[in-house]
Parts: sequence; C-alpha cells; structure tokens
Amino acid sequence: MKIKTARIEDIRKICELYAAQMKDLGETPPHNLESLIRKYWDKQIWFLFYDAHDFAFGMAYAVEQIVYSLGKVGYYIGGAFILPEWRGRGLYRQAMNQIESWAKDRGAVELFARIRDDNDHSIKSLLAFGWHKVKYGNYVKALQ
Ligand SMILES: CC(C)(COP(=O)(O)OP(=O)(O)OC[C@H]1O[C@@H](n2cnc3c(N)ncnc32)[C@H](O)[C@@H]1OP(=O)(O)O)[C@@H](O)C(=O)NCCC(=O)NCCS
Repeated sequence: MKIKTARIEDIRKICELYAAQMKDLGETPPHNLESLIRKYWDKQIWFLFYDAHDFAFGMAYAVEQIVYSLGKVGYYIGGAFILPEWRGRGLYRQAMNQIESWAKDRGAVELFARIRDDNDHSIKSLLAFGWHKVKYGNYVKALQ
C-alpha cells in the first residue's frame, strides 16, 4: 500500500470515504460535508491510502499542533478510516507508520488522537502501535 497527501481534486473521494465512516458509526453525513472540508482545506492535511491498483481504500487527516512544553510541533491525527472489506490486514499499521515518518520529516515530536471509549478496535490498534492513553480519551505517540 502507499499513502499520498490529497490534492483538492481528491475532495470527492475524501467525502465518499468520510460519508462511509459516518454511516459506519450510525451517523448521517451532513449535506455540507464537501464545503466544510473545503473551508478547512488549508488547516487539515488529508492522506489517502491506495492499493497497488491506485484504489483509495482509506484515509486520515493531520492538523499541526504546538507542543508548548517542548517548544516544538506535533500533529493531531483524525478521521482515520479503512473501508470494512480492507480491514484486518495490517494496512492501518502501515498507514500510521507512513504518517509517522511524514510527521517526523516535518520536525514533529508527537502525534495526538481522540478516540471514543467504545471504539475497542481502534484503541487496541493504537496501543499496539506504541501510542499511550493520556486522559479523557486522548492518545499520544512520542516520535523519536
Ligand atoms: C481503526 C481501523 C482504521 C483499523 O483498520 P484495520 O485495517 O483493521 O487495522 P490493521 O489490520 O492494521 O490492524 C490494526 C490492529 O488492530 C488489531 N486487529 C486487526 N484485525 C483485527 C481483528 N480482526 N480483530 C481484532 N483486532 C484486530 C490488531 O491489534 C492490529 O494490530 P497488529 O498490527 O499489532 O496486529 C478500522 O477498523 C476503521 O476504519 N474503523 C472505523 C473508523 C475508526 O474507528 N477510526 C478510528 C477513530 S477516528
């Protein structure tokens, strides 16, 4: 698999995956999903995960955060999603590894995420990838 940072031309694909994620969670995608993503395009860096045939089967986004205690930057990682039929093959682990390298290349010292307490699979995944729970559903991974 490979990941690519998305370009504005990829916005439809992002919306499709985002809508699939919301449906997965039992939520209804808002009618203005595309305009919301466009509005925050300069703040959120979107990643699409592709297979060998250039099919995008997953996504995540990163938002730069200041780590004041260290005087450095980190990235909040959100919207992580893999289409159901692609799960359980280690692709999330590969995608997160690549996102970590991407963040380190930009001088980031930490990654952050928020996960609902009932999202067992996701929590188990992040703990297996070396993340730690901080508090209130916040998870952190220190980048060496
Ligand atoms: C979270 C998500 C991206 C994980 O995708 P995935 O393809 O299943 O992940 P992987 O196959 O890389 O597995 C990651 C870890 O999950 C666990 N895991 C994988 N398959 C599993 C299965 N069938 N049953 C239980 N745990 C499993 C393992 O701990 C694995 O870690 P490992 O690499 O040490 O074995 C996917 O389940 C998803 O899109 N969920 C809905 C959206 C979501 O919850 N996003 C995160 C919060 S924003």
